[in-house]
Amino acid sequence: MKAPAIAATEFASRRAQVLRALARDGNALGVVLAGDADASLSHAWRPNPNFEYLTGITDEPAAILLLDPGHPVKARRVQLYLRPLNPELERWDGFRDEVGSPLKSRYGISTIMRTTAFSRALLESARRAKRLACLHSLAAHNAPISPDLAIFKESAARIPGATISDLTKTLPAMRAVKSTAEVACMQRAADITALGFAAAVAAAKPGNSEFAVQEAVEHAYKSAGSRETAYRTIAGTGFNATVLHYHANSKPIQAGDLLVLDSGASFAGYAADVTRTFAVSGRFTARQKLVYDTVLKAQLAAIRACKPGAKMSAVDAAARKVITAAGFADAFIHGIGHHLGLEVHDADPQTALEPGMVITIEPGIYIPSESLGVRIEDDILITRGAPRVLTAAIPK
Ligand code: GLY
Ligand code: MN
Repeated sequence: MKAPAIAATEFASRRAQVLRALARDGNALGVVLAGDADASLSHAWRPNPNFEYLTGITDEPAAILLLDPGHPVKARRVQLYLRPLNPELERWDGFRDEVGSPLKSRYGISTIMRTTAFSRALLESARRAKRLACLHSLAAHNAPISPDLAIFKESAARIPGATISDLTKTLPAMRAVKSTAEVACMQRAADITALGFAAAVAAAKPGNSEFAVQEAVEHAYKSAGSRETAYRTIAGTGFNATVLHYHANSKPIQAGDLLVLDSGASFAGYAADVTRTFAVSGRFTARQKLVYDTVLKAQLAAIRACKPGAKMSAVDAAARKVITAAGFADAFIHGIGHHLGLEVHDADPQTALEPGMVITIEPGIYIPSESLGVRIEDDILITRGAPRVLTAAIPK
């Protein structure tokens, strides 16, 4: 079976859509940065998801995409800047291609230059356009300033009459509505995750440690073609099941415990995000069953509310109503879910649901005083009709 992937033409049409948004904003310039590498042996580099979404390039730290809809030369409306070659460094980090036809056709971008030429090109374009539009999300006052705004502020200080505008909603709105190819990648991530959860059930036995469950689920992902998890696996038993982002995964599993397993494979950059709660001895106590059934009922109510036009707050309310009626209102301490895509907590357009959006639905009840935690999470594709549960193959 052919692996799902995003075609070069789809990346090109995403860039064309952003160019149209910039053109409507007075032919503003947009800059999208891949972000720097931190030269780590311990973890893989990933580009900024906006950069990945618009280029599909995942191995070029410090790359920059310059979008200039008013450029008089059509081929220069999209410009990609890559770090210069460095043969000595590349003996350590891997060899890179020269700028030429093979590279241009691989990326589907005809103007590729080195980052050493970026400052001058930006000055020239900004001097003509006199307008710079932020595409990256804005930062809170105590976080580093968003990368394109940082560049634009420096530029505007040097270019008389240049103004900076806010197009930060453009990319979240685009990224939230998945294409057919994106849904296929996400379905593959979900299917691989289903294999992992099947392997985890076998490992979730008293006598094993929580880590054995993590190892089983992640080993199955890799065997099935996922190169990495979408986020750090949470495998918590007993009291640890009540800690939302428990990561130690180090305790021995005790008979009678509930296990909350929150884990997802990633495929072609796209995340799955699933939680199941198991009785490690094979049977729930009456109290565990009451809590489990309440969470499941709340989850099904929220999934039924996942219709085009519904706000996330209404979906949240559908689940909260069930949990509140059962007397557990104070034990549901987080929101109902989030958008899912290239990021596990994906770009949030903060708009009503639309066909093509993928969100998680993950109600939970957490009672630390009873070492009792239950969460159930699925990945839901909004359609014109009934919502499609991408993770339906994982039993609950
Ligand atoms: N899977 C972890 C979370 O959604 O926060
Ligand atoms: Mn989640």
